[in-house]
Amino acid sequence: MMNMFPAVDPIPLPAPVWFFKALHDLTLSLHFLAAQMLLGGLAIGVWAAWRSGRGGPAAGERRNLAAALARRLPIVMTYVINFGVPPLLFAQVLYGRAFYTSSVLIGGYWISVIGLLMLCYWLLYRFSAGLEQGRAAWGTGLLSLLTAAAVARIYSTNMTLMLRPEAWPAMYAADPAGLSLPPHDPSLLPRWLFMMTGGLTVGGLWLLWLSGRSSFAEASRAALARRGGILAAAGALAQAGLGVWVVQVQPAAVREGLGERLPYAGAGVVWLLALGGAAALGAWCYARRPVSRAPGWAAAALAFAGSLSMVVVRDGIRDLTLAGKGFDVWARETAINWSVLAVFFIAFATGLALLGWLISVMRRAAPVKEEAA
Ligand code: HEM
Repeated sequence: MMNMFPAVDPIPLPAPVWFFKALHDLTLSLHFLAAQMLLGGLAIGVWAAWRSGRGGPAAGERRNLAAALARRLPIVMTYVINFGVPPLLFAQVLYGRAFYTSSVLIGGYWISVIGLLMLCYWLLYRFSAGLEQGRAAWGTGLLSLLTAAAVARIYSTNMTLMLRPEAWPAMYAADPAGLSLPPHDPSLLPRWLFMMTGGLTVGGLWLLWLSGRSSFAEASRAALARRGGILAAAGALAQAGLGVWVVQVQPAAVREGLGERLPYAGAGVVWLLALGGAAALGAWCYARRPVSRAPGWAAAALAFAGSLSMVVVRDGIRDLTLAGKGFDVWARETAINWSVLAVFFIAFATGLALLGWLISVMRRAAPVKEEAA
């Protein structure tokens, strides 16, 4: 079979493939957690703001829940972006010939992410400000959610197109300006829905985390545990179904490869256990409405384990698909560049030290009392 990937790779990798992979998978799982907090937080916030606008005995509590989430979302967005940049760079280093090609082919959409992101970010601030001023503001929140979902859709489109070199020549011939979308791909919808539903799971686990914070009144913490619990449990069940769908639409060779290779099969098992754990924790919190710190920590651990293991399986789907089409990322030529690696480690260690200092400042700060949620 003719190799369909562009033949250029100007320089070999300056560090081993596993090194880039480890950093890629770690930072991408943090990006996914933040992105799903954004999507889930917006969905829950919009729903609560809308319901509060319709009055009723729980209106005040719902408005406070929406405000508590909306206040945090611009900060969550900084993490979405800052945890998105590293995997973007690592993915470009590892898969440049596939990834740059697909990015150029949908260039119009790909570049529009910058504008959509700015719009989404601005709407987040408007949503939060509207709620602080006592308005329901759910329409603004909904627009922000739709913009974030559109960004995610463009990412899913690119990450699936990069796996289809057979579709590239016809796309380029039909529209070299990069203004059209790829032809139908059966994996796009399940994949995007899977990531969207992750918003419910992670959003629910986030509420469980918040239910452990002493800045909220006790009654509000119990309400957060109840709501968070049901959302996490429902999201985990829906994601399990969508995860099966994502794997089902892969070609037989990819499915078999996932089962045969221990790291992918093992990550798949961890992912299922994390999802089961999230469903069980969610159900328990829904029933018991605890107001202690422990469920929040358990929720955080499950969210991280679920995200990291999912990223490893996702990586397996990509590597097996590309290898079947003539691009074996593990066979990339490497020429270790020690001076570049040394600069990287110095910057990395400095960054970690600064982060530790920032966290210590935050922990020493006087706690702020929030209204209620
Ligand atoms: C509203 C903001 C964003 C949302 C909701 C979002 C969501 C997503 C989703 C759902 C995916 C998975 C796509 C798939 O595989 O099907 C994804 C992948 C990715 N996102 Fe984001 N994203 C956002 C912003 C960003 C930003 C600003 C960056 C970087 C500057 C970024 C970097 C990445 C990268 C690098 C990947 C894929 C990496 C890989 O496959 O190796 N994202 N994002």
